[in-house]
Amino acid sequence: MARTDGRVGVALIGLGRAGHFHMASIAAIPDQAQLRWVVDVDESRAEGIAKQESCRWASSLAPALADPGVHVVIIASTTDTHFQFIMQSLSADKSVLTEKPISHELKEVEEAVQLATSKSLPLYCGYQRRCDRNFRVLKKHVDDGSVGELKVIKCCSRDNPVPPMEYLRTSGGIFHDMLIHDFDMLNWLSGGQEPESVMSVGHAYNREIEKMGDIDTVAVILKYPSGLVAMVDTCRDATYGYDQRIEAFGSKGMLTAKNELTSTVELATSEGHLMPCAQWSFPQRYKEAYTTELKEFITMVHAGRNSDQHRLEQEAMLRHPSIVRITVAAELSWKLGRSVDLRDLEGLLAEKDEGERGVDAETWSTGGSNSDLGELPH
Ligand SMILES: NC(=O)c1ccc[n+]([C@@H]2O[C@H](COP(=O)([O-])OP(=O)(O)OC[C@H]3O[C@@H](n4cnc5c(N)ncnc54)[C@H](O)[C@@H]3O)[C@@H](O)[C@H]2O)c1
Repeated sequence: MARTDGRVGVALIGLGRAGHFHMASIAAIPDQAQLRWVVDVDESRAEGIAKQESCRWASSLAPALADPGVHVVIIASTTDTHFQFIMQSLSADKSVLTEKPISHELKEVEEAVQLATSKSLPLYCGYQRRCDRNFRVLKKHVDDGSVGELKVIKCCSRDNPVPPMEYLRTSGGIFHDMLIHDFDMLNWLSGGQEPESVMSVGHAYNREIEKMGDIDTVAVILKYPSGLVAMVDTCRDATYGYDQRIEAFGSKGMLTAKNELTSTVELATSEGHLMPCAQWSFPQRYKEAYTTELKEFITMVHAGRNSDQHRLEQEAMLRHPSIVRITVAAELSWKLGRSVDLRDLEGLLAEKDEGERGVDAETWSTGGSNSDLGELPH
């Protein structure tokens, strides 16, 4: 429930790159949200930001959860902490906007969704591409049949700059950190379809990333029961700027969502045509989308438990286990060097749990720290 002054009280945990874009979004909607607490294990960072934002600070979530003026917790700490903070916040009856992913572990995702459902609280996961104005137009045209029956979706998702190695160590690997955004987009654009099979190949060009047992460049092909074929290509390092494009091809035509460039001006001379750069990175490219995401989340919190918005979000939450299943299957495909049929996934994972492995222990490892990824085909 919102405060009597009409604003929703927010506690933000994690004050790094994602914490900063969430702070910018909160500042953009001062009539709707009030930042009451900032929390980070880095005490000097938390104290400094609290001073700047005129709010309280702590190095653990507990004091913020005990504050009845906090209605919403935004989780932007490192990926390996999300699940515990989601469970603590929901248990304290707070609505949650968490950065992706909820967890690498399917069981934990199911547990989190179940707790949110039983508490009738929103658990909103920050797949902000759904809030990007360009991708929303593309989605609208897919839904209104402008391109007819969907046959192919192509997502290109290339990062810039390469994230800090410290970040990558707790990111869970490229499938759970980057590709999960694309799998969410495929779920959205395909109307919630789940693929029947996935096939991934990848390579580590960056030696530091290779040493972590991770890769930096991946291609994934997904086949859906409807016939739909989807392709994702991902790289940690696009030297020309942040590169996120989507193509949707169907029986009546094609939709293309291009990059947003830093300006619309093209220079043409006798030497050729010079275009402006793509946006530098995610804080620039998705600035507006992050604010839209927070606004829509806060509107839902205001609307309350019996509202249509809340019912829709409770339904939308049910997609999370499916997205993580696809992520786990895509990672497994890369590790095994072969296509994975989604119908076999539970069996393959159960075999791993039971120790009835057809391949060595390291090859089976999923999630956790990147060093768990084991020796992999390149
Ligand atoms: N949606 C997006 O576009 C997007 C972009 C970047 C990052 N992210 C997500 O945001 C999360 C954070 O990424 P980042 O790039 O901001 O990382 P970061 O390393 O810049 O910041 C993480 C912060 O969390 C703090 N932290 C770590 N453990 C903590 C704990 N136990 N309690 C409180 N604070 C803790 C760290 O001290 C640090 O300040 C990741 O899960 C990532 O997947 C999402």
